[in-house]
Amino acid sequence: MRIAVPREVVEAEPRVAATPDTVKRFTALGATMVIETGAGVASGIPDGDYEAVGAVIAPDAAAAYADADVVLKVRRPSAAEIPLLKRGATVVAILDPYGQTEALKALAEAGLNTFAMELMPRITRAQVMDVLSSQANLAGYRAVIDAAAEYDRVLPMMMTAAGTVPAARAFVMGAGVAGLQAIATARRLGAVVTATDVRPAAKEQVESLGAKFVAVEDEEFKQAETAAGYAKPMSAEYQAKQAALVAEHIKKQDIVITTALIPGRPAPRLVSAEMLASMKPGSVVVDLAVERGGNVEGSVAGGVTKIGAVKVIGYANVPGRVAASASQLYAKNLYAFVETLIDKAQKALAINWDDELVKATLITRDGAVVHPAFQAA
Ligand code: NAI
Repeated sequence: MRIAVPREVVEAEPRVAATPDTVKRFTALGATMVIETGAGVASGIPDGDYEAVGAVIAPDAAAAYADADVVLKVRRPSAAEIPLLKRGATVVAILDPYGQTEALKALAEAGLNTFAMELMPRITRAQVMDVLSSQANLAGYRAVIDAAAEYDRVLPMMMTAAGTVPAARAFVMGAGVAGLQAIATARRLGAVVTATDVRPAAKEQVESLGAKFVAVEDEEFKQAETAAGYAKPMSAEYQAKQAALVAEHIKKQDIVITTALIPGRPAPRLVSAEMLASMKPGSVVVDLAVERGGNVEGSVAGGVTKIGAVKVIGYANVPGRVAASASQLYAKNLYAFVETLIDKAQKALAINWDDELVKATLITRDGAVVHPAFQAA
């Protein structure tokens, strides 16, 4: 059983899908681990660290992919990478399958069995495999660090001989995994934190972190959580009420961090240009949803945009801004899943196609797109 880990080809993707720790674990299961040279460098892992735990270093992508039974990646294989994989190979990655009909077709036609880690059910057994949580948690942390770096005042209240500096007010919109970590991080830095969400369950979580919950708590709000724990798209009426509440609140904030997402849909628009214009000069807004359409009007993916007197931060791939930690957790998520696909006695891949985790994440198999949510209409 040969498991390959290529260097990511997407620009600005510093993460890697295996660490020396997971290489060691896979090797103990009987796998031959092949790592493309340089694959870990941007996450602080030199080739030598992989070699030290028994990996073979391949000089290029073609050599890494050659004859691999399993390929571990961060991103979906590109059109240039696909021909390097052998038919029948199993690919495990963040496939970003929504709206990617052509790309999924290409994976199917290449005869690849592909698993989308982000579709992992959020059940107890699969918590250790939950890439959305592991990466969103780091993104929430980093969003606050990025905001603090751009903010030209301090976050904690400081009482000094020369006078008292007030604490910054931070407002976190969307209190899922990223939002809750943003709340905790902003609190640790001494900000006065408020937060909002459309799921009622978020209220208690926000309050348990010492932040104040701000939301329109009407009948629709009480029904806003799906069985899977995700938010539902809200009605136009709710959004208008939410916008009015937020508009009043945002005027008084120094830092706003938006993290609101609805799986498979464009991110909800939560902060309008008028709201930005109402904020104090020097305020900072971080849009963590910028790559999914953005929660903030005018936010631009890839950097910091000045909109009026407010800095709007739209860094892409925020988990990649803490690449070493992100890779450590991501690699462990992959290991925990792929281990369940391996027959330990035979030391070979033996996928149980009836397993609920396999069924939930399998996108393509035997030449076809098999996931019901992604079959072309
Ligand atoms: P997500 O990344 O899909 O969305 C982020 C947040 O934005 C969510 O809390 C969502 O309710 C919120 N949101 C959506 N529309 C909004 C709007 N219009 N205004 C304000 N907020 C809005 O969600 P994430 O972080 O993946 O978490 C979803 C849920 O899953 C949470 O309840 C989380 O605690 C739960 N979860 C459960 C796990 C488990 O193993 N049981 C593991 C991880 C998360």
